Amino acid sequence: MSHTYARIAELPAHEGQPVTVRAWVTHVRSSGKVAFAVLRDGTGVAQAVFVRAEVGPEVWERFKELTLETSVAITGAVRVDARAPGGVELGVTALEIIGASPIDYPIQPKEHGVDFLLDNRHFWLRSPRQRAIFAIRSEIEQAIHDFFYDRGFLRVDTPILTAAIGERSGLFSTAYFDEGTAYLAQTGQLYGEAAAAAFGKIYTFGPTFRAEKSKTRRHLTEFWMIEPEVAWNDSADNMRLQEDFVAFIVLRCVERRRKELEELGRDMAKLERITTPFHRLDYGDAVALVQQKGSDTKWGDDLGAEDEALIVEDYDKPVFVMNYPKEAKAFYMKENPDDPRTVLCDDLLAPEGYGEMIGGSQREDDYDKLLHRIREEGLDPSAYDWYLDLRKYGTFVHSGFGLGLERTVAWICGLPHIREVIAFPRMMNRLRP
Ligand code: 4AD
Ligand code: MG
Repeated sequence: MSHTYARIAELPAHEGQPVTVRAWVTHVRSSGKVAFAVLRDGTGVAQAVFVRAEVGPEVWERFKELTLETSVAITGAVRVDARAPGGVELGVTALEIIGASPIDYPIQPKEHGVDFLLDNRHFWLRSPRQRAIFAIRSEIEQAIHDFFYDRGFLRVDTPILTAAIGERSGLFSTAYFDEGTAYLAQTGQLYGEAAAAAFGKIYTFGPTFRAEKSKTRRHLTEFWMIEPEVAWNDSADNMRLQEDFVAFIVLRCVERRRKELEELGRDMAKLERITTPFHRLDYGDAVALVQQKGSDTKWGDDLGAEDEALIVEDYDKPVFVMNYPKEAKAFYMKENPDDPRTVLCDDLLAPEGYGEMIGGSQREDDYDKLLHRIREEGLDPSAYDWYLDLRKYGTFVHSGFGLGLERTVAWICGLPHIREVIAFPRMMNRLRP
């Protein structure tokens, strides 16, 4: 017998015709005369209806073997019915069991603790809520590629095994043949700068690694970062690119993923308000603001998560905090000519207390100043010889930023913890599954 296979989302187009759906069973019930199996295939849910008098004894008996997460191929005629789960039904004529699922399937229709769910992440991903999250994540990733593609950026893939430190946060290292120690990349930026001198406008999109001993709701040890780098952009251009970029991503989700966002209970009005321009706050004013609100952060400190929450609480859009003191930031940021105690940089803070979503800066393009900062940070200049060369041979004004993908997805989805927006999260205490 030949089959027309269809995915559940495609079923309405086959109304009245026989098709075969390959899926997993999420729910069964039987009245003795009629039995139902709810199916899930990643595109939607549909109900298979078994009428005892029509399917024959063999199929009727086989129905009884269906358990939660049995994989099946079910053939039947498509009926569109608003009352059915998923809005479509299959009037079953044939049932093939592809893979049985023992009744001790770990995730049952009841409340489970998050640690249990994370231990069973390989199964947790099958839940409808997880599908909504990953449809949104995937939409965001596609929006990012589209944004840069349409603006003439080249995507450059930078190495993960590196020989030099990029950021101040913790490093993962591994022995690397006769070359000494290799570090897992904390950032692709330094390579992105070399590529920007070659190609003008580039972006990276890849995993980055930080051996951070922080167990917060916004830290992973492995996360994905998008890092554009643009020749001839100064810090003001850089911030305009960031706000255009973030507003573009949010609008894309509002336009194309409303259904999934609503499934997650997201307040859409909050997302619809994310239009350019975003608010801009000088670091000094930000410190004064949080001090007024009771923080004991002093000029010179980096802003902590609590300060960030205090800053954004008065705004309904992301907020830029600009031009931090040198000592609070990485070595590669350009000295601010108007106040050399500070650097030309920005952190973009997400609304609703989601914290820093982007870190960006204009890069130090003066050879001597950069060398001085590398030494000041206690880094070995010989590890940065090639990076310094970019300032020696045709130095150029350039800026870029890094957007943390998981923080962005968590904010757009309105989820409290970033561990749920990456398929297999890596955290201090979690390396499995
Ligand atoms: O501010 P960060 O450290 O900036 C950089 O790495 C620069 N090299 C970027 C650049 O200018 N090209 O990190 C950028 C972003 C943060 O704003 C945050 O969204 C995310 O990366 N991030 C993390 N996300 C999850 N877990 C962690 N441990 C993160 N650390 C940073
Ligand atoms: Mg940062």
